[in-house]
Amino acid sequence: MQSAQTGNDVRIERLIEWLRDAHAMEAQAETMLNKQASRIEHYPELKARIDQHITETQNQARLIEGCLQRYDKSYSGLKDLGGKMMAMGQAMGGMMVNDEIVKGAQMGYVFENLEIASYTILIAAAEAVGDTQTKEVCERILVEEVAMADWLREHLPELTQAYLTRAAEPNVEAKR
Ligand SMILES: [Fe+2]
Repeated sequence: MQSAQTGNDVRIERLIEWLRDAHAMEAQAETMLNKQASRIEHYPELKARIDQHITETQNQARLIEGCLQRYDKSYSGLKDLGGKMMAMGQAMGGMMVNDEIVKGAQMGYVFENLEIASYTILIAAAEAVGDTQTKEVCERILVEEVAMADWLREHLPELTQAYLTRAAEPNVEAKR
């Protein structure tokens, strides 16, 4: 049926667009996490968790690229990496402030939740077009994003206390 076919094309188009957004988001995440981890000096537990998530993030980007390549063999993520996420990256990157360790963890939690929303949307879109492979990939990635978000939220109180303890000491660096 002509109309059903057209409707499905639109859904696939949208799915591909959202996969590209997710790919750009993961590239942005990797840049931000690398920058964050490289600046941390006194909070080894947070640094270790971020390092773990950098590895996960690189793998997520590859998985999403694989989903896109099933639609277009010649797909290269490079062309998606410029635009949309830059503003948020800049907003989060410019935080070399007194409490940057706390602000960084706070913004990390915000970003993980953006990712959680993105993969929840992608799972629904993949289901709508019957793309079970993409759906399974996104479900697998979602588990990692939820774990990272949960970890950050659970560790915010402890991190805040550690920061405040250091900040109250004379001649002790607290912010990173
Ligand atoms: Fe991610």
